[in-house]
Amino acid sequence: MSPFISVCACCWFFVAASASRDLTYRDSDILSLNTAQRTSEQPYRTGFHFQPTKNWMNDPNGLMYYKGYYHLFYQWNPYGAVWGTITWGHAVSTDMLQWHILDVALAPDQWYDINGCWTGSATFVAANRPVLIYTGWTNISSSVEHKIQVQAVAVPHDSEDPLLQKWIKVNDNPILVAPIGIDPTEFRDPTTAWIGADGKWRMVVGSKRKEDGVALLYRSSDFLHWHKAEDPLHSVVDTGMWECPDFYPVSIGGQNGLDTSVNGPDVIHVLKASLANDKHDYYVVGTYNSDYDTFTPADSSHNVGIGLRYDYGKFYASKTFYDSAKGRRILFGWVNESSSAKNDIVKGWSSLQGFPRKIWLNGETKSSILQWPIQEIETLRRRSDSLSGIFLEANSVTRVTGVEGAQVSIE
Ligand SMILES: *[C@@H]1O[C@H](CO)[C@@H](O)[C@H](O)[C@H]1NC(C)=O
Ligand SMILES: *[C@@H]1O[C@H](CO)[C@@H](O)[C@H](O)[C@H]1NC(C)=O
Repeated sequence: MSPFISVCACCWFFVAASASRDLTYRDSDILSLNTAQRTSEQPYRTGFHFQPTKNWMNDPNGLMYYKGYYHLFYQWNPYGAVWGTITWGHAVSTDMLQWHILDVALAPDQWYDINGCWTGSATFVAANRPVLIYTGWTNISSSVEHKIQVQAVAVPHDSEDPLLQKWIKVNDNPILVAPIGIDPTEFRDPTTAWIGADGKWRMVVGSKRKEDGVALLYRSSDFLHWHKAEDPLHSVVDTGMWECPDFYPVSIGGQNGLDTSVNGPDVIHVLKASLANDKHDYYVVGTYNSDYDTFTPADSSHNVGIGLRYDYGKFYASKTFYDSAKGRRILFGWVNESSSAKNDIVKGWSSLQGFPRKIWLNGETKSSILQWPIQEIETLRRRSDSLSGIFLEANSVTRVTGVEGAQVSIE
């Protein structure tokens, strides 16, 4: 049984082994957060998971901490509760619990992104210089095959503004088109860039070659001119299109997070891809050699797409970032619901973001990662109680009475 259940209207436990357990529950303070939006017409609005006020949302994008604020951008349709006209919605928070929604940061208004500003990432090219790289969906001609995916860069209009409300798309856009041999309709989702041994930037773009998922590697010395490396960073046969790749270092000896360019003997790397074929996020831990830009999985039988997942529920298109304020790495992921498009239109919105999790290396195996909801969640807890002598039967669902609350955490 998961020791932590974040949202639970009544309390049912599924347990794999019979046991008599002591249960502790805490009732969260729901009113100060966006559950205020929960009404009899809107019973499914969440309490502390991020949601826009309305309409469709998918992938988290461009996560960063800047001048006192956490920034969450997200794929958002301003016009309806189903996917379409994708922009970068934008919200800021000082604690990742309470979010303030700002104006859209990137909207389709250039020929290279006129069909949508798709997923991308933030990189600090210098301490106070965040840059966004995202995928544009063009409209070069009327035929579907000419709606291709390209990569584009945006920079803050005013980097003194801690809210980073306005972004400028650079004149050099698009900065990348699909290389020869890559389907230009399967070329997307650039990662946060990192600096290699030669001092140049690297980033990865998701794609596939035939049916092999691939993380294409690019290098640049100025962030605008990018050159494809001969070999991809990684590829796994028959895993299909790799969306939303993520590549980052973790400490071998502790739970502290690392900025994306950090490497050395105390560091091991994680490569994650979101598999378009089965809509799950798979990762592998491995060694990154920044002299040769090679990545070697610790255990290739657990390679990307055939091994471990971040989450075994609905969790896709995830992205991590380094939280320089608290020295940790944090994971966000898109939680797609199971409701139909018809129901989404009736309720006026679709999807939420998973509650942010701290992520670090499992020090015992050194080949898997661990994750836990960020500590800030504990400040939402108000009441708690303990129940003892509850018998939880193996492979069955047990109803526990005496636990009340719109949302509870259970240990
Ligand atoms: C894309 O191109 C088609 C055909 O030229 C045109 O009808 C359509 O309005 C264009 N869409 C956008 C968003 O510019
Ligand atoms: C989202 O959920 C719908 C309905 O369950 C499903 O058809 C679709 O494949 C899901 N997409 C992802 C990315 O999980």
